[in-house]
Amino acid sequence: MPATLQFPEELPKALCPYNYFDSSRLWSAPSVADFLCSLIMWTKTALFNAAVASVAVGAPSGFPSSGNGLWYSAPGVIWSRTYLPVGNGFLAAMTPGGATQEITQLNIESLWSGGPFQDPTYNGGNKQPSEQAAMATAMQQYRDGIFASPTGDIDNVEKLATDPGAYGSYVGAGYLVATLNVTGAVSNYARWLDMDQNIARVTWTQSGSAFTRETFCSHPTQACSHHVSVSAGTLAPLSFAFSSALEDGLPTPNITCLDSSTLRVRGTAGTPGMLYEILGRVRSTGGKVACITFPVHSGAPPNATVVVTDSTEAWISWVGGTEFSQDAGDAAHDFSFKGPDPHAAVLALLSGSVSTASYSTLRAEHFADVKQALGAFSLDLGQKADLGTSTDALIEAYQIDTGNPYLEWVMFNYGRYLLGSSARGALPANLQGKWALDIANPWGADYHSNINIQMNYWSAEMSNLDVMKPLFTYFEKNWAPRGAYTAQVLYNISRGWVTHNEMNIFGHTGVKAFGNSAEWANYPESAVWMMLHVWDHFDYTNDVAWWKAQGWPLIKGVASFHLDKLIPDRRFNDGTLVVSPCNSPEQAPITLGCAHAQQLIWQLFNAVEKGFAASGDEDTAFLEEVRTKRDAMDKGLRIGSWGQLQEWKVDQDASNDTHRHLSHLIGLYPGYAITNYEPAAQGGVMLVNGSRATYTKTQVMDATTTSLIHRGNGTGPDADSGWEKMWRAACWAQLKNSSEFYHELTFGIFENFGANLFSLYDPFDAVPIIQIDANLGLPGAVLNAILQAPDVPTVSTPLVITLLPALPTQWASGSIKGARTRGGITINLQWAAGKPTSGSLHVDANAAPRPVQIVFGSKVIASFTTSPGLSKTLTSF
Ligand SMILES: *[C@@H]1O[C@H](CO)[C@@H](O)[C@H](O)[C@H]1NC(C)=O
Ligand SMILES: *[C@@H]1O[C@H](CO)[C@@H](O)[C@H](O)[C@H]1NC(C)=O
Ligand SMILES: *[C@@H]1O[C@H](CO)[C@@H](O)[C@H](O)[C@H]1NC(C)=O
Ligand SMILES: *[C@@H]1O[C@H](CO)[C@@H](O)[C@H](O)[C@H]1NC(C)=O
Ligand SMILES: *[C@@H]1O[C@H](CO)[C@@H](O)[C@H](O)[C@H]1NC(C)=O
Ligand SMILES: *[C@@H]1O[C@H](CO)[C@@H](O)[C@H](O)[C@H]1NC(C)=O
Ligand SMILES: *[C@@H]1O[C@H](CO)[C@@H](O)[C@H](O)[C@H]1NC(C)=O
Ligand SMILES: *[C@@H]1O[C@H](CO)[C@@H](O)[C@H](O)[C@H]1NC(C)=O
Repeated sequence: MPATLQFPEELPKALCPYNYFDSSRLWSAPSVADFLCSLIMWTKTALFNAAVASVAVGAPSGFPSSGNGLWYSAPGVIWSRTYLPVGNGFLAAMTPGGATQEITQLNIESLWSGGPFQDPTYNGGNKQPSEQAAMATAMQQYRDGIFASPTGDIDNVEKLATDPGAYGSYVGAGYLVATLNVTGAVSNYARWLDMDQNIARVTWTQSGSAFTRETFCSHPTQACSHHVSVSAGTLAPLSFAFSSALEDGLPTPNITCLDSSTLRVRGTAGTPGMLYEILGRVRSTGGKVACITFPVHSGAPPNATVVVTDSTEAWISWVGGTEFSQDAGDAAHDFSFKGPDPHAAVLALLSGSVSTASYSTLRAEHFADVKQALGAFSLDLGQKADLGTSTDALIEAYQIDTGNPYLEWVMFNYGRYLLGSSARGALPANLQGKWALDIANPWGADYHSNINIQMNYWSAEMSNLDVMKPLFTYFEKNWAPRGAYTAQVLYNISRGWVTHNEMNIFGHTGVKAFGNSAEWANYPESAVWMMLHVWDHFDYTNDVAWWKAQGWPLIKGVASFHLDKLIPDRRFNDGTLVVSPCNSPEQAPITLGCAHAQQLIWQLFNAVEKGFAASGDEDTAFLEEVRTKRDAMDKGLRIGSWGQLQEWKVDQDASNDTHRHLSHLIGLYPGYAITNYEPAAQGGVMLVNGSRATYTKTQVMDATTTSLIHRGNGTGPDADSGWEKMWRAACWAQLKNSSEFYHELTFGIFENFGANLFSLYDPFDAVPIIQIDANLGLPGAVLNAILQAPDVPTVSTPLVITLLPALPTQWASGSIKGARTRGGITINLQWAAGKPTSGSLHVDANAAPRPVQIVFGSKVIASFTTSPGLSKTLTSF
């Protein structure tokens, strides 16, 4: 048994070389290599546990007494399963919690391979201008084929697709290695993530001294800090170094001394690739700080380290940036996305308090920001903190249906923590938030926009997290400019803009051809769905200045495109307008009048009407065209042969289709086309035999329930991921079915989350890949069981706020504070024995008056029209 254990060590790459996406491994049972890796990793943990003199038996002292955090008695060994995430939106880091040596994995939010940095001819995966006529012809042929086909579908739309070229991937930014020169057995080891203060900590005893490591990323300073201290006396010599050697594929950067205490890392994300720079400034209390340049082989990139001796505490604060510029993603900049060399900007970030304030001041500034950013809202599920069980043991013991309100509460807070830590930068949270390893990440860790990125933001408005603006700015600057080109060249449409499912940060707006078929990527409704988030933000905040400047122009652009894209239905000849060719996201057939698209576009057109007055836009012709086409369009609600809500206008749903997406149920959740179905506005469907029907609300809801049941529990073919279970949970909550809601929620938690509570794509993979959507979707699903206020089609339709619509018995008592709904309403509610006991609401001073009903069970407990500043106490439930 070695006297000194240095954890974690990177695994021998030869044995476990695959911390990257390899699709061939996705569906297989754990392979021999997986098995070996897993064996090695667990053995290492066991060795560690055996080697330390004592392992913490309860939560470490300093862990929040409320239980609001994650804690462990051994360091992390697998990035996706056991490292702990920190971040400020601009930077992110994964901390294994090493003792003598900590190897922190780094991210910079805009560091991507590919794009114009790799290929100057990169054009966002689009057709050439010269192909416009050919595309218009192809589109016409596809449409004719669909309308003429006996089954109403065609095999492919391959001609619309384009090779993605230098699509690129979000890229890791190497590692920070902080090594203490101390020997001896490690004892009293513990590590944890404190979610009251958003800080990761490690404590242990070694060589007679008690050590602490802390890592946090501060939003106000845009810097991350790693701090090492000893309880008494002088800290052993401590070195800080950066390394790319551990990262698959990242070119070795130049690591030099900027000055006597500052490391400068300059590298590129590929060869050629985007330039990035990290500056790490080391400070200490007492002692000496020196930057030392290592001798390297001639021709090798330079390397350096900063060493601290004789201090009582020492810390490094790092800042980072790239030459990516969101402001250069339009035609005026030739879609270069290229800004200045990042050096000046990152140096400027070091010029403030990062370099002058004491460590405790820096930390206090961070804590205050966390409180301000996340603290206005809180949820209590009646949980009892279990401080005697580490987080890995909690998730290990978790059971479907039985659940554990404490762990569910932690995971709710963790979802908000992860969103707050990844979405407050200049770019929105991607498929992995901002945490990603290596030069190529699963699905590029990009912005898949047919549920995943939407789900990321499910809880943001209601739980009062100020994270939406970077998402909207990304649409405006990254999507819209090239999206207008795609509208023109691919669709021969000269107004508005369009995007498809897969989006990078280089304006990839084309239909991405890869693998099997364009049906995956043929999703011109991605921006439609996203525009509902834009609308929601206005609906929640009534921020008229923002709406005029950014929200409305975005919505108008997307709506304009779809006005021109809707076409008369030449199959049913029922006088409606439909989309064609269309398919449900990631699911054939390629057909006409897909329910998903029709429901979404209908909701978008409603948003145009509802938001027109506040927009200041005088283009009434546009408004009239939206109204006319909205009324004429197929509403995407049709009941089929086995009582299901049809996924496509032609009744061809298979009752055994357990596809992971619930695309045609979009109007149930997160949309409202089903939930707030109104026969007068959405009824009047022509049936196949030529007669007309207007469904009742009950009929539509019953059909929806039938479809949801048949869609299964989220373990269908090509599917066992967490996000589909969270979507199902939210849908069951929308149907006010608390037992099915809780079943899906607990099933998802049971099946798809690792020891660090990250959502895992294939939980049976020894080294799984993470998908942040289920983490961030979980709070949205939980909220939907506690408080619902879905959107409505018109401004005069009452907003129905339902209290405790699907409360599981496990959460019989609790409270929600500072919850937001549409209409600028803030709600507080307490409940016990499954029933509200007290509640109040307050309306923002800038809110527009609107009719509201408060509902509990089947009873309307209050009915009123809001006015600015209104306060109300809720009584008599
Ligand atoms: C492209 O759009 C223009 C303007 O609407 C139209 O005149 C033209 O016929 C369209 N081209 C094709 C090939 O459909
Ligand atoms: C670590 O400490 C030992 C004992 O003081 C010393 O011999 C050695 O040079 C130190 N190593 C480093 C890398 O500082
Ligand atoms: C630079 O030095 C550090 C500390 O010795 C080492 O971990 C790293 O691998 C070195 N080189 C590079 C290219 O990262
Ligand atoms: C690294 O240093 C070499 C030699 O000075 C230089 O040619 C190269 O451009 C530098 N790389 C970066 C990314 O700055
Ligand atoms: C559904 O049933 C049909 C007919 O029995 C079968 O061909 C098909 O493979 C099944 N599909 C799924 C997704 O199980
Ligand atoms: C068409 O089908 C509907 C529903 O099955 C039925 O109610 C209606 O009577 C039928 N109409 C005609 C003209 O056959
Ligand atoms: C999920 O559905 C599958 C297929 O119907 C079933 O075998 C399994 O028991 C279900 N699991 C849970 C936890 O509901
Ligand atoms: C919830 O859904 C399940 C499955 O469809 C059903 O058996 C149960 O009766 C529903 N419960 C309620 C309260 O509607």
